[in-house]
Amino acid sequence: MVNTKAIAGLLALSVMLAACSAGSEGETDDTSAQLEATSPAAPAGPLAATDMSTVDGTTLASFTGNAANGKLVFAQCRTCHVTDAGVNKIGPSLNNIIGSTAGKVPGYNYSAANAGAGFVWTKEKLFQFLEKPQRVIPQTKMIYGGLPDAQKRADLIAYLETPN
Ligand code: HEC
Repeated sequence: MVNTKAIAGLLALSVMLAACSAGSEGETDDTSAQLEATSPAAPAGPLAATDMSTVDGTTLASFTGNAANGKLVFAQCRTCHVTDAGVNKIGPSLNNIIGSTAGKVPGYNYSAANAGAGFVWTKEKLFQFLEKPQRVIPQTKMIYGGLPDAQKRADLIAYLETPN
């Protein structure tokens, strides 16, 4: 009788263990299925040159930029950028940035994402980018959350046109 009970106990234990390992196998399968489902979409590219959409739906044309106010807003950029020609800091020089092709400031070591963005920094593109940089150039190495205030972006762009 003792042996039978012991065998029954072992059987119960092995059923539990089997259930357990089936459970963890199931989880592993779920995880790899999730990875397969998400990885192809992961590295999104920069927005198209013709895409000027903004998160808040504003367009630069509805604002009049004030360069003097923009100079004050530029304080947020100055940790990483200056407007002097040829002076790259954490970020590239922003001298003559309006009208330049993205990723082309000489001597600056861009991320592949910014280097390959392939669009021109028109005022509208800057207006879009500065609202939320990671939306326009996913994987940019510019650590800046964005400037949601559209008037301030218009001011900043007016300043960047003729920095002083
Ligand atoms: C914390 C540092 C940091 C701050 C703050 C910052 N930037 Fe940048 N910025 C960078 C870096 C780094 C890059 C290069 C990104 C890359 O190579 O992926 C960059 C790239 C850029 C570019 C693209 C340049 C090109 O040649 O394509 C523009 C335009 C720009 N920044 C404007 C601004 C403006 C305007 C502000 C202020 C509102 C600002 N940035 C704030 C670090 C910063």
